[in-house]
Amino acid sequence: MKKFVSLLLVLTLVLSVFAVASAEGAKKVGIAMPTKSLERWNSDGEYLDEQFKAAGYETLVVYSDNDVNKQVNDIQNLLAEDVDMLLITAVDGQALNTVMDEAAEKGVIVIAYDRLIMHDAVSYYVSYDNYTVGKLQGEFVESALDLANAGDKTFNMEFTAGDPADNNAGYFFNGAYDVLKPYIDNGTIKVVSGQTEFQQVATAQWNTDTALDRAQNLLASYYADGTVLDAWLCSNDSTAAGVAQAIESDYAGDNVVIVTGQDADDVNLVNIYEDKQTMSVYKNLGNEVIVTLAVAKAALEGEIDGEQLATTFGIECDFDTESYETTPGNKCPSFLLVPTVVTKDNMQVLVDTGFYAWNADNTYVQKVK
Ligand code: GAL
Repeated sequence: MKKFVSLLLVLTLVLSVFAVASAEGAKKVGIAMPTKSLERWNSDGEYLDEQFKAAGYETLVVYSDNDVNKQVNDIQNLLAEDVDMLLITAVDGQALNTVMDEAAEKGVIVIAYDRLIMHDAVSYYVSYDNYTVGKLQGEFVESALDLANAGDKTFNMEFTAGDPADNNAGYFFNGAYDVLKPYIDNGTIKVVSGQTEFQQVATAQWNTDTALDRAQNLLASYYADGTVLDAWLCSNDSTAAGVAQAIESDYAGDNVVIVTGQDADDVNLVNIYEDKQTMSVYKNLGNEVIVTLAVAKAALEGEIDGEQLATTFGIECDFDTESYETTPGNKCPSFLLVPTVVTKDNMQVLVDTGFYAWNADNTYVQKVK
């Protein structure tokens, strides 16, 4: 019996030493997502958590209700937990100065995930090429209306952009606007409301109801007299959902209005199937997480050769040291992935990612994780 007890004691000791070793060995990664109220951040938060855990990291995930103060607080709590690294998707890229100073003081590596933070404590930025996202939306409208061959024909359209606090939103808008500007300038496109400035068309917090309200107002003010609406350029799916709802309830015309989006969210995929939205720009979540994990791993192990690292992902990804600055003149090394256009006709590309499956009737696809 004595022998058994001492054996048990030794075993317990060995096991607890192992437990301490693995807990001490595992680096801690704090993951700060902006909100649970927008579909994509739920998916990103969960998948980042899952993949970082699977790679042996300890993770702490927070969501900040799109509230800047809450996010500052949440990140401070992560720092108090002695995280080695922070992955942050900022609610407001300009509003994290104090907490970024604190991260820098503690030597915590910061990766800006998807949205850039305007602070030099950011070591790396992982995202999709945001300007290209907008460009794909603009080109989609250009080709759907065959603007290049319009001749004397004219088309009416409106714009809805994203959250001004989100550094991406301006890139999306400019990417789209730059494609369409020549047609606006030569009169082929008429923006009937006259609202073509980013600040006029922006949507605080990418909120669906805010986009819906503005769209209803514009439809009532400029289209109630029977003016035809041909297209509505929306920067993402949460805003496109609001615009599509406004068109359905408040637009009297019977033409199919071209509506763009981004993220391939569930509601929007149904809308695409039902012709209430025409396209979405998909940014493969799995790929963004693979790249983030590889960058995180390399950064936690020491200096990164970004150029070389970007060749190891097996995914199309540019290492870009020119396009993004955290403060004027301070370029942020960025890993930029390539987005894909999704329409009614190629939803299979989503299924191929493993994150979506066809519905029971094989008519549209929905997220499975
Ligand atoms: C952006 C992101 C988009 C979209 C939007 C609203 O920063 O790049 O994919 O989801 O936020 O959540």
